[in-house]
Amino acid sequence: KEIKLFCPATIANLSCGFDVLGLCLDNAGDEMIVRKVDQKGVRITKIMGADLPLETEKNVSGVAALAMLETLDELDFGFEIEIYKNIKAGSGIGSSAASSAGAVFGINELLGRPYSRKDLVQFAMQGEKLASGNAHADNVAPALLGGFTLVRSYAPLDIIRIDSPEELFATVVHPQIELKTSDARSVLKQTVSLKSAIMQWGNVGGLIAGLYTKDYDLIGRSLHDEIVEPLRSVLIPGFDLIKQTALENGALGSGISGSGPSIFALSRGKETADQIAKAMSDVYEKMNLPYEIHVSKIN
Ligand code: HSE
Repeated sequence: KEIKLFCPATIANLSCGFDVLGLCLDNAGDEMIVRKVDQKGVRITKIMGADLPLETEKNVSGVAALAMLETLDELDFGFEIEIYKNIKAGSGIGSSAASSAGAVFGINELLGRPYSRKDLVQFAMQGEKLASGNAHADNVAPALLGGFTLVRSYAPLDIIRIDSPEELFATVVHPQIELKTSDARSVLKQTVSLKSAIMQWGNVGGLIAGLYTKDYDLIGRSLHDEIVEPLRSVLIPGFDLIKQTALENGALGSGISGSGPSIFALSRGKETADQIAKAMSDVYEKMNLPYEIHVSKIN
């Protein structure tokens, strides 16, 4: 018995929602096969498209799967996982989250769903912990639940799926450098001023309200990051120009995707999202910087 999965890429943070907001892309991601086998335990038998460890304890899929299986009665069978990576590590669109979420989702299906998708988030987070040293859930939650998600609280874990309007599209450009999440977290300050916090939670509330009421202008006004973007954007070549270009070409808002270096823009309708992709491409072409770009519906 086996299951073949699409493991979607995700955009975490969404400007104002550091470590709490994220969304799921519908056409960018990895593939994975999870197979039930007689041999007990979890084995990663194949990884294509990336140079990642096969050892279960060193692989994010393996660690997430083990975290899940530890909570169940001992099984007299096991699982094999084959991973076909398309999302590059250190790209900022949830490469480790796709693998962590895929493994626990696949095993849960093969076991007849002992857990809900929300329950699976806590296990997938263990993969994120291995990858970056921090068990954030803002990529694994949208990868597992789809659409927009909010991590309302980490302790206890409280994941909320957020409604969003039909016509929202994301354009994501990945300048071809690798930025490790752990490095991008090390530039952050551990405290924020009350003034910045007030602006940030105003925007988080505004973004959620805009998503529920399909108020595209409010979504746009709220896509602003007072705290993290100023510290991280200096690590990303051409960030200011790409963001400005996206806004000039009709984006509702634009910011760093996850911990970068990918940059996202949200827009209303595919036509605008495509136009933004073209304009962003022109910027990196002119800078002679290799990049990958895609346009995706949020799903
Ligand atoms: N919220 C995390 C960060 C996402 O920005 O560090 C990492 O993909």
